[in-house]
Amino acid sequence: MKHFIFAAALVAVLFSCATMRTQKDPIENRIDALLKELSLEEKVGQTCQVTLDVILKRDAKGNALIPAQVDEALLSEVIDTYKVGSILNVGSHTLTRNEWTSIISAVNAPYVSGKSKSPIIYGIDAIHGMNYTVGGTLFPQEIGLAASWNPALAKQFAEITAYETRASGVRWNFSPVLDLGRQPLWSRNFETLGEDPYLASLMGAAIVEGYQGEAIGQYHVAACMKHFVGYSASYSGRDRTPAWIPEKYMKELYLPSFKKAVDAGALTVMINSGVVNGVPGHVNYQLLTETLKNEWGFKGFAVSDWEDFIMLHTVHRTSESLADAYVAAFNAGVDMSMVPLSPQYKEYCDIMVNAVKSGKISMERLDDAVRRILRVKVITGLYDDPSFNPEMYSDFGSDKFKTAALNSALESITLLKNDNNVLPLQTGGKILIAGPTADNLVFLNGAWTHTWQGVDSNYNTQNCKTVRQAIEGKFGKENCLYTKGAELVIENNFEKTNFVDLEDYAKKLDQADVVVLCLGEMPSTEKPGDIHSLNLDPEQRELAKMAYKKNKKVVLVLLEGRPRIIHDIVEGAAAIVQCYLPGDYGADALVKLLNGEVNFSGKLPYTYPKYDGVIEFYDHPRSVDRSKAGDFSAYNPEWDFGFGLSYSKVEYSALKMNNTSFTTEEKITISVNVKNTSNRSVKEVVQVYIGDMYSELVPEGKKLKRFSKVEIPANTEMTVDFEISAKDLMFVNQQGIFVHGDGEFNVFVGGLETHFTLNK
Ligand code: BGC
Repeated sequence: MKHFIFAAALVAVLFSCATMRTQKDPIENRIDALLKELSLEEKVGQTCQVTLDVILKRDAKGNALIPAQVDEALLSEVIDTYKVGSILNVGSHTLTRNEWTSIISAVNAPYVSGKSKSPIIYGIDAIHGMNYTVGGTLFPQEIGLAASWNPALAKQFAEITAYETRASGVRWNFSPVLDLGRQPLWSRNFETLGEDPYLASLMGAAIVEGYQGEAIGQYHVAACMKHFVGYSASYSGRDRTPAWIPEKYMKELYLPSFKKAVDAGALTVMINSGVVNGVPGHVNYQLLTETLKNEWGFKGFAVSDWEDFIMLHTVHRTSESLADAYVAAFNAGVDMSMVPLSPQYKEYCDIMVNAVKSGKISMERLDDAVRRILRVKVITGLYDDPSFNPEMYSDFGSDKFKTAALNSALESITLLKNDNNVLPLQTGGKILIAGPTADNLVFLNGAWTHTWQGVDSNYNTQNCKTVRQAIEGKFGKENCLYTKGAELVIENNFEKTNFVDLEDYAKKLDQADVVVLCLGEMPSTEKPGDIHSLNLDPEQRELAKMAYKKNKKVVLVLLEGRPRIIHDIVEGAAAIVQCYLPGDYGADALVKLLNGEVNFSGKLPYTYPKYDGVIEFYDHPRSVDRSKAGDFSAYNPEWDFGFGLSYSKVEYSALKMNNTSFTTEEKITISVNVKNTSNRSVKEVVQVYIGDMYSELVPEGKKLKRFSKVEIPANTEMTVDFEISAKDLMFVNQQGIFVHGDGEFNVFVGGLETHFTLNK
């Protein structure tokens, strides 16, 4: 009898498993039903994205009206005639929430009234806060978030950004950038999470989780992983130019941050506008379809970058006609084209309909793309209710959000030098605040702030402080002097520094006890951000040298998206502070750090170069260490990856492992003691690096494998534990597959070293 009950139960379980397998997920059923209703033209329309400018009302001179208004006739052409499924972008600058309300309601009115079968998915680049809504909370740019080495802060940034993006009616954010920052010349270095795949993966996945939440609901948005893949590695350093990435390094360096984000559930991806190994990102079937979709199981959709279907024909020249270009990109696996201008979008729709009719694009492929797009529209709730109620977002621009942005900047700004404890700044003397980046918010925010390039200061957030204003506010205006000394301008399309008020600067230097010299870059991104040299302009360095000649204590404050080379002014500086692009509350944060109210805890997310002709990364093979003298001391950056000082002293001791020899199945644990020997508490980033001594393919000396940011109270010691597995130590072999290493490995933590062996 017992046996019978057991057998009956087993049959019941097996039966329910079988029916579960044949029963489709309700979301998939819904997508099937929606897809069935669509005509060929409607399906093609779903794959088309236009920019907001296409539907905005204009004055007689062609300028978009302020406040922004949707032109009903243009909208009708986009939605009723061409059945377009997606719109992106902002007009020329930040919009008010009222403007967003009217735009989002207008673009979805045809769906709400039943005239159109599909709602519009609206996308925006809210990459460091909702930077396109007046009053949005602006955080540090991604490179600064990475410098916090704090995934919890990255997640919180994304939650707040998602909230404020939804408060503006938008449900899709073109963020995060997961490209590795391994080409410091690149204008978009500041949009990356730094040079290391492990750090970028952890921070990137935290951002995706923050954007999307457990479920999208009312307060989250669909994330968009950018830009799949290899965009950041161009060998010229100029935007949208080719990269060479051998399979080994594609797999070990460039793909992991995307894989981790896919595993975290990222709903969309944007494609690399550049070229890798001769293949434009938009026609790379192997990466888009084989790796991302088939191997990794990515179920969301892939959107092209700006005009990139067209660029296959006009720039990259892999397609002889536009029609061929569209077919090539679509068949490679790009599901939506950011066409995005008019009349090009009309041509796109016509060409695509014909391509399906003639069989160049199969209906199966079109259905796959549309299914993916509909999936994201269903998950983001657009089919249920595309409207939004701005009243539901009372925390928009709230003090608690501003405090979160301030805290992110506080944990990100990195102290690179502090000789003779010049910092914390003492009150009492005269502070000269100078330099081209000292007195405008645009230098704290960078590009993608109110406008695309972020240089127009007309839209700066009210009541946020420049570095000058924050220092004057804290130390008293009467104790401060200010003069620019130099300014950043654009000449012949390139950034340049010109001296201004140089005599005044020289005079004020004489009166100053300490100089806070703010150097850096003009906000810029993409093509407009291309530069000729990584060296910081000589005029800016001259300002520092003038102060050194007068024996002044100089605190260099760097506001820059790229690590600009400053080698000849490092030695003379008393202190150097890397702010990256810390956002609207960056100056408040800087002052709290400079005056010692808060301790520094940021660490470099990249290797800071010393010379313009030598670019090094911390995870280099031993040949890079080999010097002319024949020893292994040649690796010589200005500052190493992971470096950053604080006002405390942390001593490392007792680096231990649970064993000295492991099989590939065993758990490997590492522990270390960290002691704060100072009288103030500190947040320390404990970093674990591991290197394979010998390997079939040249091993790197060390790679970051774990880190933990821990708060250590004053005069306190604690133990920090880590666990890794042999899987974390795998490498890509000559056949292009991940395999286990074996033999001896070195472990480096905080200047300590130990070893273990791994047995395959
Ligand atoms: C950029 C993308 C961005 C898109 C939409 C492109 O030019 O490369 O990163 O998301 O524009 O604004």
